[in-house]
Amino acid sequence: MASGIRTIGVSTGGGDAPGLNAVIRGLVRAAVNDYGWRVVGVTNGFDGLIWPEHARELTEDSVSGILPRGGTILGTTNRGNPFSYHTTEHGQPVVKDFSGLCLENMKRLKMDALVVIGGDGTLSIANKFFQLGMKVVGVPKTIDNDLSATEVTFGFDTALQVATDALDRLHTTAESHHRVMLLEVMGRDAGWIALHAGIAGGAHVILIPEIPFTIENIVEKIRQRELSRKKFSLIVVAEGAKLPPKDALGKPFPETKPGQLANAIAFSICEATGRETRVTVLGHIQRGGSPSPFDRILATRFGVHAADLIAQGEFGKMVCLRCGKIMAVPLQEAIGVYKTVDATSDYVRAARGVGISFGDRS
Ligand code: F6P
Repeated sequence: MASGIRTIGVSTGGGDAPGLNAVIRGLVRAAVNDYGWRVVGVTNGFDGLIWPEHARELTEDSVSGILPRGGTILGTTNRGNPFSYHTTEHGQPVVKDFSGLCLENMKRLKMDALVVIGGDGTLSIANKFFQLGMKVVGVPKTIDNDLSATEVTFGFDTALQVATDALDRLHTTAESHHRVMLLEVMGRDAGWIALHAGIAGGAHVILIPEIPFTIENIVEKIRQRELSRKKFSLIVVAEGAKLPPKDALGKPFPETKPGQLANAIAFSICEATGRETRVTVLGHIQRGGSPSPFDRILATRFGVHAADLIAQGEFGKMVCLRCGKIMAVPLQEAIGVYKTVDATSDYVRAARGVGISFGDRS
């Protein structure tokens, strides 16, 4: 058991994910009730260690009622690395190293250890602080589910539910109007949300970054469906999917950003087929709102286990889910290795088995 722990801190960094508050609640309850520690909530990710004025004690009372709440009661940011912080001085842009200040402020706040809840970027910073001597424990979060050290991150299940619900809704209107409907979902450079939602929502085409596609193959799938009197098609597009070099008419695609990809594909399909196309970009709706029961439970398990790791003196580690069990891995091993969809996996096989096209074959 780690001796000398009296006060721990907790911060949430990076994009929010449904379940962050459930982690905070689990951590605070275990810390206070099982270990008798004080818990300090650090606001807005690592910014709260640079400017600690808004740090506040988290009690059983202050975490009461937050289990079903989306977002994070601590606030977050996906900008600003304290080791190279972009700011301005006398009107000029400068890059500052605030890491020493963060360590000092941690002492000032009397925090003996810090639980950092975040994705790969946030956890990489946490690992740098660990190497400087900070007692850190990490908790993985992201709707993208792209962290390799854990089977699943909380937030993914909720995002998947939102995306599946959107597909169910698009299904009926697409069918009624005989349209090609595209749904662009988040996921950064991984196709997990698109793949899972596409299977769960009965999509006809799924486009993901891991499987190169052509517009011709998508058009062929739409035509095959029409031959079997299915005059509508549903296409799920992962925001990170890679456009082919040329559209169906041989013209190069314009450069696109996330949020614009499905539009570019829809335009090309419309040009090639003359079919009516419509696009829905689901965006941050996937991240907001109440976590699913699965995410609430996983987040609670992660939060309580983070407290247990501190009690055991297991610093520099990240909680994770493996074979259904909550475990811990060194942060060093957990960061920088992305989990992407394996194109030979049984998920992809199952999708192909029920007739879903990935746009890679005609
Ligand atoms: O990593 C989570 C995520 O929602 C990605 O899926 C998406 O690409 C990105 O964050 C959006 O970030 P922002 O909230 O900065 O627009």
